[in-house]
Amino acid sequence: MNDQAVAALRPGAEAHAHIGRTIEQIRSELGVAPVPVDAIRDPAIYALEQDKVFRRAWLKVATDWEIPEKGDYKVKELPVAETSLLIVRGKDRKVRAFHNVCTHRGNKVVPTTEFETFGKARANVLSCRFHGWVFSTDGPLRSVPLESGFGELDKACLGLREVACDTWEGFVFVNLADRPEQTLEEYLGDFGRLFGGFPYHEATTAFRYSTVLNCNWKVALYAFSEGYHVPTIHAGSLPGFTGIEHSDFKLAGPHASSTIYGAGMEAAASTAQFAGVLHADREHGPRPELVPPGINPTGRTDFQFELPNIFPNFLIHLAAGCGYPGMAYFTHQFWPLDHGRTLWEGINYFRPARNAAERAAQLHVNALHRNAWLEDTGTMEDTFTGIRSGAIGAMHLMDQEFMIRHAARTLDSYLGK
Ligand code: FES
Repeated sequence: MNDQAVAALRPGAEAHAHIGRTIEQIRSELGVAPVPVDAIRDPAIYALEQDKVFRRAWLKVATDWEIPEKGDYKVKELPVAETSLLIVRGKDRKVRAFHNVCTHRGNKVVPTTEFETFGKARANVLSCRFHGWVFSTDGPLRSVPLESGFGELDKACLGLREVACDTWEGFVFVNLADRPEQTLEEYLGDFGRLFGGFPYHEATTAFRYSTVLNCNWKVALYAFSEGYHVPTIHAGSLPGFTGIEHSDFKLAGPHASSTIYGAGMEAAASTAQFAGVLHADREHGPRPELVPPGINPTGRTDFQFELPNIFPNFLIHLAAGCGYPGMAYFTHQFWPLDHGRTLWEGINYFRPARNAAERAAQLHVNALHRNAWLEDTGTMEDTFTGIRSGAIGAMHLMDQEFMIRHAARTLDSYLGK
């Protein structure tokens, strides 16, 4: 980047300039060849991904504002790692993760029938319902019914089995390796610094959609990793999204991102009406200055949102009310259930509404996203069926689909290919 270009950047943006790539650089680094679909089609690859990706990478499993008080906890089922996790805020206020497995005989300490508990629960202690062993919220085994009947029982060694857990900007991540190769900070690296400092914690009103899709998890991930599809598949739900520009390409280790600029939601009349409600004052209006300086580094006014992909399965779309009225950000996550089934979840995060009009506006944006996400998810099972048919051997990717190319390459490298 020349001096003139650097001078035009928002304050602080230059510190992140090394992550940015031109499309020519992207092509040079990642190539332009078709990407084979074997990794999607082959069940044997999925078995490798379980061990070499999902038991090795840091995985986002919660937000710390979901469990704000001492004793708050939630359960996260992880079929991809064949375990269930308890995410708990202990009495010392620290958030920890444990295998949701009783050290007596392996029963779930907190039983679940769903893939995860919605919202939270609260307890002073965690008690296994099978025989009543009781654990502290920070893990140690506290009491055992009829303890004398065990002869000798070293309770100090029988606490809940802890999993490496850390937070970044309020997102709770776990790493299932016995000894993670990197700390979370190291794992996120430049990406953590680039996307840090955004007021994620202000957007505590969350609306979640989810469904189980009969497709490989990468089909779902890839469908949400590009904007090339927007003018066609979303022609009905997002008619204002024409002429978008996909640029500011970024690569940072296993993670990648780019920015959507261009035509805005204001083209949709009903959305503009609600945008007027939410943009009526400074606090709830667009706050482009809150977007970290490395994002939209030149301060373009047609900034729509940024779509970072935190490897392997977590997308955060930063909007800060720009383009998306009142929206702070939204996330997608893709949890493999087996080779051909995926739990997808999309969550919209807003600043809390202060009156009925703002609430209505949020619900309108929610409905808009529901419709768009139905269109997105409606492609995935067909794509997977098509790939499994063997009719195509590779994906032919254009520039706007570079994050697919990057994710496929990163997966190959995790699998040792
Ligand atoms: Fe939990 Fe027996 S399995 S108390």
